[in-house]
Amino acid sequence: MQILITKDCKELPKVLSNIIKKAQSNNFLEKEDIVLLLKSRNNDLLDAANSVRKRYKGESVHLRGLIEFTNICKNSCLYCGLRCENKKLERYRLSEEEILNAVKRTYEAGFRTVVLQGGEDNYYNSDKICRIIKKIKKYDIAVTLSIGERTYDEFKAYKEAGADRYLMRIETTDKSLYKKMHPDMNYENRVECLYNLKKLGYETGTGCLVGLPNQTVESLADDILFFKELDADMVGIGPFIPHPETPLANGNKDNFEMALRVMAVTRLLLPDINIPATTAMESIREDGRIIALNSGANVVMPNMTEQQYRAKYEIYPNKICINDSPDKCINCIKSKILSIGRTIAQSKGFRYDK
Ligand code: SAM
Ligand code: SF4
Ligand code: FES
Repeated sequence: MQILITKDCKELPKVLSNIIKKAQSNNFLEKEDIVLLLKSRNNDLLDAANSVRKRYKGESVHLRGLIEFTNICKNSCLYCGLRCENKKLERYRLSEEEILNAVKRTYEAGFRTVVLQGGEDNYYNSDKICRIIKKIKKYDIAVTLSIGERTYDEFKAYKEAGADRYLMRIETTDKSLYKKMHPDMNYENRVECLYNLKKLGYETGTGCLVGLPNQTVESLADDILFFKELDADMVGIGPFIPHPETPLANGNKDNFEMALRVMAVTRLLLPDINIPATTAMESIREDGRIIALNSGANVVMPNMTEQQYRAKYEIYPNKICINDSPDKCINCIKSKILSIGRTIAQSKGFRYDK
């Protein structure tokens, strides 16, 4: 993705600095200002996002234990290694007992949120998901679901069973790109799911992929404005990483900087939300999560999945931690966070503290 501003402009540093000040005082920017910030290479944006994070969210980092409980998916999103057309991937589902063991471990490590993530796997029908949620809620822990698109009634049932949050990235707000990337899905339905989640009282997380083929900086600006319009409670930004067993195998690999900038602008516009330093960021850049924590992020989602399954949840290649155990990840991430002078949060870390 081209990120340089081509027009030579001596005034540019001043223009950018004014845009950043405007964002800090209004928590809003016009699309053209966002585009300028994204296209520039000015580090002031990252510093500004860091100071907004400090002011609104403080120094503590929330750890959310991620359990990748199924890699079976009925969809064929062009970018994803779990797409049903990837016949080379060995598929798995965790048993209920394995899920609950992972939750126990997460709780005992002091984390107060567990994230159940998986492909869109019809095996886990509403009854099964609700039963699992109810068992998890015997612990004093927040439950986040990230299991794709479901009906209003299903979302309602999960909420009534005790689910607190839901993650569903919009992926891109460019409708024609969305259509190309998601042959079995529908943009309007995804948007409707997000608004249904909001209506049902979930803390609602969304986000986008950065660096998809033919994605423009202008459409990334629209993505950020969409997060603002939805009033998302969490936003996860993922650099797109090409997977060799997908139609996008030859896509651009160099999406770290732009993903970081999208994340930083999101922090300026939505100052009090939770923003993860994503695993994908660290998978393509050494210490990518630490760089993100210093550029607006305040959440990390360490992998709590048993080691034997990790390599099979291969959304993209060279994912970090696939040869590590949950204990190794717990210690590793805690020490990295402490090493930059941040602390580990003890609370459940809702957007608006309960
Ligand atoms: N199936 C659910 C869904 O799609 O919302 C949740 C699981 S899905 C694997 C989680 C996220 O992985 C997606 O929202 C997508 O942004 C991300 N992802 C998939 N393929 C990726 C890739 N090649 N590079 C970076 N992120 C990717
Ligand atoms: Fe399935 Fe989610 Fe991957 Fe799409 S991104 S193929 S819905 S796991
Ligand atoms: Fe898994 Fe560092 S977070 S080894």
